[in-house]
Amino acid sequence: MTYQAELAKVPGLGEDALAASNNATWTARYGQALMNTFGSPQRVLVRGEGCYVWDADGRRYLDLLGGLAVNSLGHAHPLLVSAITAQLATLGHVSNFFASAPQIALAERLLDLVGGSGRVFFTNSGTEANEAAFKIARRTGRPKIVATEGGFHGRTMGALALTGKAVIREPFEPLPAGVTFVPFGDAEALEEAVDGDTAAVFLEPVQGEAGVVPAPAGYLAAAREITERAGTLLVVDEIQTGIGRTGDWFGHTVEGIVPDVVTVAKGLGGGFPIGACIGLGRAADLLGPGSHGTTFGGNPVAAAAGLAVLHAIERDGLLENVRTVGTHLRAEVLALGHPLVRGVRGRGLLLGIELAAPVAGQVLSEALGAGFIVNAVNPDTIRLAPPLILDTTQADEFLAALPAVLDAVGTAPKETR
Ligand SMILES: Cc1ncc(COP(=O)(O)O)c(C=O)c1O
Repeated sequence: MTYQAELAKVPGLGEDALAASNNATWTARYGQALMNTFGSPQRVLVRGEGCYVWDADGRRYLDLLGGLAVNSLGHAHPLLVSAITAQLATLGHVSNFFASAPQIALAERLLDLVGGSGRVFFTNSGTEANEAAFKIARRTGRPKIVATEGGFHGRTMGALALTGKAVIREPFEPLPAGVTFVPFGDAEALEEAVDGDTAAVFLEPVQGEAGVVPAPAGYLAAAREITERAGTLLVVDEIQTGIGRTGDWFGHTVEGIVPDVVTVAKGLGGGFPIGACIGLGRAADLLGPGSHGTTFGGNPVAAAAGLAVLHAIERDGLLENVRTVGTHLRAEVLALGHPLVRGVRGRGLLLGIELAAPVAGQVLSEALGAGFIVNAVNPDTIRLAPPLILDTTQADEFLAALPAVLDAVGTAPKETR
């Protein structure tokens, strides 16, 4: 028996309901029902397949944002859909008094990939993974934490305290104490800031929210050396960069370092919410019984999603694909020689197109109008974080459209968002 007919009666689920409405009516309803934390949505999306999505007006878009570095396998990937539905149909949730096979297997798999002996704490999001890392840091007994200017670690109060973007942090102060910030990429400043009272250093291999800013060569290795010397934990936030996004499983491996804690989320579930705080060495055992918890973290369905994503990345050679398509995109954007393009930053399929003027919002609007989803991460940077399955032909669709998109900026009406 299928429940399709019954589901059709559920407002918002039935295809008829979707077909009867459009972007404008859904957006108006959104404006009435949702807290205004994100502004008005650019479009209301109803369907996705591979690297494409469709909006409520029936328009198709090439998704070069991938749900903000989340949809690693694109949309409606058959393996991911099968893993999630099969697990949900078998065992959808257990409390933390019990365990499930996918949860255990995913923890083992992540430890294999990180390449150290350790333990995993599962969460539902990136910010929660960093909260767990923060609590690990506190359990060292040391009072101080060092994080980086421009860094972003999440919106909950602990992760916010670690976030170097004052504009999103300061309205919520007072936050957990003891955090100081150093300029990102400056090893000397880091060395000066870290001492025997420093519990942990938090940093990203590529600062995504700051505008796709990669750590300069040698910085991660220096951070490892400095923290090791001081007996300080090195926490690498791989929430945006991890799980293949940079063309390696993790962004930090480019410098051959082994951190004490690695946090992941976003791409791990391919769209199903899951995060993980991976503690290595002594960091694996700093949270003991009763010191931390979660109702949903490590849920079997989320863990099944994670296992399917990791399997597909390996089976389909997606790390290699990320490197190939990322290199192609970068080279060809630069080869356009467009006066609005000043450069391209980033690694793999996490790229920031640096603009010569603060018109990223207008570029976004023009791109959307031409059928491409991109992100204006700051006024002069367009961020691309497409599914890891993006192929060269699809990248070329964007490259072919980009000159006209950029040409239109300046004559375009001001974008809404
Ligand atoms: C580097 C980094 N850390 C943490 C987070 C927070 O993750 P979430 O939004 O899943 O809480 C993000 C989200 O953008 C991120 O990019």
